[in-house]
Amino acid sequence: MARAGKCYNIADFERQARRKLPGPLYHYIAGGADDEHTTLANVRGFDRYDLRPSYLKDIRSISMRRKVLGRELEWPLVLAPTGMSRLFHKDGEIGVAREAARSGVGYSLSTMATASIEDVGVISTGSKMFQLYLLNDEAMNFAMIDRCKAAGFDALCLTVDTVVPGNRERDLRTGLTVPPRLSPSSLLAFAMRPRWCWGYLSGGAFSLPNVGGTAGGDLSTLASYFATHMEQNITWASVERIIQHWGGPFAIKGIQSARDARLAASAGASAVIISNHGGRQLDGVPPTIDILANIADAVGDRMEVILDGGIRRGSHIVKALAMGATACMAGRPYLYGLGAYGAPGVRRVLALLRAETERTLGLLGCARIDELSRDHIRLAAEIPDFLQQGEPEQRAQIALHSSIGKLP
Ligand SMILES: Cc1cc2nc3c(=O)[nH]c(=O)nc-3n(C[C@H](O)[C@H](O)[C@H](O)COP(=O)(O)O)c2cc1C
Repeated sequence: MARAGKCYNIADFERQARRKLPGPLYHYIAGGADDEHTTLANVRGFDRYDLRPSYLKDIRSISMRRKVLGRELEWPLVLAPTGMSRLFHKDGEIGVAREAARSGVGYSLSTMATASIEDVGVISTGSKMFQLYLLNDEAMNFAMIDRCKAAGFDALCLTVDTVVPGNRERDLRTGLTVPPRLSPSSLLAFAMRPRWCWGYLSGGAFSLPNVGGTAGGDLSTLASYFATHMEQNITWASVERIIQHWGGPFAIKGIQSARDARLAASAGASAVIISNHGGRQLDGVPPTIDILANIADAVGDRMEVILDGGIRRGSHIVKALAMGATACMAGRPYLYGLGAYGAPGVRRVLALLRAETERTLGLLGCARIDELSRDHIRLAAEIPDFLQQGEPEQRAQIALHSSIGKLP
């Protein structure tokens, strides 16, 4: 923990993960699709919104508790599902799930995890959700859901934005293979990280136990697994069948429009996860924070709304909650902690984000997250009132300039 203790924010953890992981693995985590426009925009999008404090409030005791997908969390964060965590550190999904429970946040286990539904069920008493990639074999889908019920999972989420694999050019360049295999293009990158190699080799066999371990091979094999086994025709009728079979709290992950969110509510989902897969699928879609308010307004109190993508600070969580999110999800932040220091790194990442969230609330003048509202947010570089009083043409010009980040 001592070394992780020298990291003071998520950017520090990203730098350490870059130093410690073989290049292909760091780039697999950090990268996005195509030009990575959406991956970057997810993070930068938060800067478009300023916080507006209101002081002289009693903030001696701050409560961040919130019920999310049927379980009360100590603070409103859910760790996003990410495949193959064991590649980044031998503590893998088991270590991450333990740290999530310890910190009082939710954990999501991916279909493509390197730990089984049953093992996570045994070690975690905290809130846990299973993330389902729909396979084109309904019996296999139902079998995974039955395993989740037996293992005591609290919620299920269905990811719908992966019907076609995203184009991740960093992985093509680094020659990443799964499980890692030395090839001429990656040999040097792995040889330069002997500590990682030792950890990987001492961590037991690599497998994907939730899909029967069948998806080993290089990323192109994984892509061909996706191409042959993934359901490319996910219909609302199939969503309804999954919800019925599961019978518990259910979220759809990858929703990006008010229309789809309304349809999700009609299908019987309890939550939508507003997500673009961290910019790893369709590049060029807007940052999730920009579409949150519309979607939250469209579903009202019929569903929970979880904001996923770009969370790197507690203030980001607070902005999302103020705009109408029930909770937030984060993926790369904890993977950087895991890659840099294993489970103790994840612990420190969660402690930092929690402290930042609490501090931001106090500095905003809120003792409870329920007090947050859109009054706490303004558009960054919002045009001062006196400038808004100009002629319509002049106002339109000012609005245009401020939307591209430059006041005239
Ligand atoms: C390395 C990595 C693996 C991922 N694997 C999955 C997955 O198996 N299933 C899934 O629904 N999303 C997956 N995601 C997407 C995350 O769940 C989440 O949407 C994304 O990381 C959010 O963006 P953030 O990293 O900026 O927090 C993965 C993301 C990363 C970085």
